[in-house]
Amino acid sequence: MDDFQGRVAFVTGGARGQGRSHAIAFAERGADVVICDRCEDSPAVAYPLGTEDELAETKRLVEAKGRKCIAAKVNTADRDGMNALVARAEDELGKIDIAVANAGVSVMGGVADHPSAVWDEAIASNLTGVFNTISAVAPGMIKRNYGRIVTISSMLGRQGSPGQIAYVASKWGVIGATKAAALDLAYHGITVNAITPGSISTPMIHRKDLYKIFRPDLEDPTWDDVSSGFATIHAQPVAALEPEEVSRVVLFLAAEASAHLTGIVVPVDAGVAAKVTA
Ligand SMILES: NC(=O)c1ccc[n+]([C@@H]2O[C@H](COP(=O)([O-])OP(=O)(O)OC[C@H]3O[C@@H](n4cnc5c(N)ncnc54)[C@H](O)[C@@H]3O)[C@@H](O)[C@H]2O)c1
Repeated sequence: MDDFQGRVAFVTGGARGQGRSHAIAFAERGADVVICDRCEDSPAVAYPLGTEDELAETKRLVEAKGRKCIAAKVNTADRDGMNALVARAEDELGKIDIAVANAGVSVMGGVADHPSAVWDEAIASNLTGVFNTISAVAPGMIKRNYGRIVTISSMLGRQGSPGQIAYVASKWGVIGATKAAALDLAYHGITVNAITPGSISTPMIHRKDLYKIFRPDLEDPTWDDVSSGFATIHAQPVAALEPEEVSRVVLFLAAEASAHLTGIVVPVDAGVAAKVTA
């Protein structure tokens, strides 16, 4: 369980959900951890985002594993803020070996009546945020000739979906950015790979407005009411996967031994990729 001993892992969107799971997984295996989260709601996003209390709780959980943790309120769309956090982490912890560009938002809206602010939020958080994460950590990784970068796209980064043009476009963009960065960094001991999750059991999917899309006939639908509908999204009959299932693949791609896996896309999506990709 100490395969990341001596490593430093940076996880964006670390207040809760998948980001918290990844942070704890690295800490359990010996890594010190840097986490950031915007800790602020967005008028363009229909559900509450992570909070400062949740970010502090992730830091507490990492430290409870005996590891160091830097936790900072930073929006990944803020390039200066990301550069400053990376500089602080390199100063206090010596380096960043691993970066997981995980922060993101889910937004809804069809092309005919899409508010610009919602498009801008999706691109800023889901695509610019990933670019900023990679660009901020790359110089130090190049200097040290070592890095493992994992980006989080989505099953919707490989297919279209009605009523989600901004989310779909941003997540396809993550795969393009991942492949381009993998080539840019290929001569520097740095790998860059993407994961495309299916529906993962986090606050991003456990929200009333989304439940209502599945069961508009019900006043106050619950998970029990919508889980059979969620299950039809996947090929395997499962409504949602656990964040730890994504963490397992993050750890695999972040391992030192995964040195010659780069520019690839790994689905953790209960079989959706079997339907949509070669
Ligand atoms: N949950 C799913 O079903 C699912 C499916 C496919 C892909 N994903 C992707 O997985 C990633 C993690 O999502 P999750 O399921 O843990 O959701 P989540 O909403 O539980 O957690 C996301 C975290 O990211 C933070 N965040 C959002 N925008 C940010 C920004 N610009 N800067 C800093 N922090 C920001 C939020 O505050 C929140 O704490 C996202 O990129 C998401 O798009 C999720």
